[in-house]
Formats: sequence, C-alpha cells, structure tokens
Amino acid sequence: MKFIFVDNPNEGGIKGAQVFKNALANNAKTFGLATGSTPISTYNEITKSNLDFSNKISFNLDEYIGLKPTNPQSYHFYMNKYLFSVKPFAQSYLLNGLATSEEAELARYDRLLEKYPIDLQLLGIGKNGHIGFNEPGTPFDLTSHKVKLTESTIKTNSRFFNNINEVPKYAFSMGIRSIMSSKQILLEAYGENKADAVAKMINGPVTEQLPASILQTHQNVIVIVDEAAASKI
Ligand code: PGA
Repeated sequence: MKFIFVDNPNEGGIKGAQVFKNALANNAKTFGLATGSTPISTYNEITKSNLDFSNKISFNLDEYIGLKPTNPQSYHFYMNKYLFSVKPFAQSYLLNGLATSEEAELARYDRLLEKYPIDLQLLGIGKNGHIGFNEPGTPFDLTSHKVKLTESTIKTNSRFFNNINEVPKYAFSMGIRSIMSSKQILLEAYGENKADAVAKMINGPVTEQLPASILQTHQNVIVIVDEAAASKI
C-alpha cells in the first residue's frame, strides 16, 4: 500500500483527483466510483478540472434497495449531483435498487463488470471496516450480492435521512472479488471515527470480519488519509 498523508479532506480531494488524472494518462477506460461523504472533495476537484470522462465507463459500488433514482438519498441521485451532471461518462452503470428480479439485476451487473474490467476503483471505508456495502463477515469471494445492512451502518448513514426509520435495511453491493479485480484501488479516509478501521485495515489480520483488510493482498493500492484517520496506525 502506498500512503498519502494530507491535512484535511480538501487536500485529500486534490490528491485524489490527481490519481484519477494519472489513471487517465495511463489510458484507464473504466472507473469504479463510490458514494458517501468521503469522495465529495475528490469529485469537487474533478468537476473543477479539465479531466474528460466522456469516452469512459463508470460503475458504482452499491445502491440502496427500494429507493428511486430521484430520491435524494439514492446513490443514483448522489452521483448525478456530485459528478455526472458536470462530468458525464460514456456509460455509467449503477445497481438498480428497484429491480423486480434481484437475481437478474445482480447477474446483469456481474456480466458488465466482466466485460469492462475496472482500472481504478475509488473506495471509502466504513467505521466497521466495510468497503462498498460489504459488511463484516461477507465472504471475500462474493461478486455482486444483496446485503442486509448492519445496525452500525444504518445508524451511521441515518445522518443523511430525516430519521433512522427511513434508512433502507437492504442494499445491493459489488462484491469484494470484483473490487479486488480492479487494476488499481484508491481508498480515502478522513476523521477520527475511521481511525480504528484504518489501523485494522493496515496492521490487523486479513479477515472477513474487517472487509478492508483484504486490501493488504492487492498489488496496487493508494490510501489517502488525514491525520485523524491515521492516528491509530
Ligand atoms: P462515508 O462512508 O464516506 O460517508 O464516511 C464511507 C463508507 O461507509 O464506505
């Protein structure tokens, strides 16, 4: 793992956008994207830049089950708001949280991921060490799947909703196997509530109980962290 230490998320966003720029310079074609508060500064830097993704492909890590794309809490809505409205991709694939056949939707996503291997995958990390919505205990070899969100994730994400009861209980997520197939991975983490997960990701055993620990076995990972998130390394 290569580390980039930054003073704050804004500086992290500048460094994150540089990783995207370098990937473009290396002819990356397919980008894996993330949601949540962490990637916002990177997307802000990208939208201010002259980087061009109009002939590129994107995949998103996950989506809540049951939210319409027009729901402001859906990850479809988030991506349009923070990135796609300014930087459109040729094709952007997201899991459809309203799919009538969950099985068919997951199979569709896996087929697409096989067809367009990800060159650069952006990740945040959950307080509990999740990546995407791969919660602790998720087998490392899963591809796209349905997830029952943990209490920890529901509670953490309730800050984006009017109240905790509105947070969906289920989501679709790209699996760890697909994340690990990416040529390069960029993980960003900011704030002291990520410090435990970051320390375990780096120094702890590689275990399904801390999903991000699998990244220790990937050959090309860049981690951007601020001082607070790095405080327990
Ligand atoms: P956050 O979420 O960026 O909102 O902290 C990260 C995650 O849960 O993966």
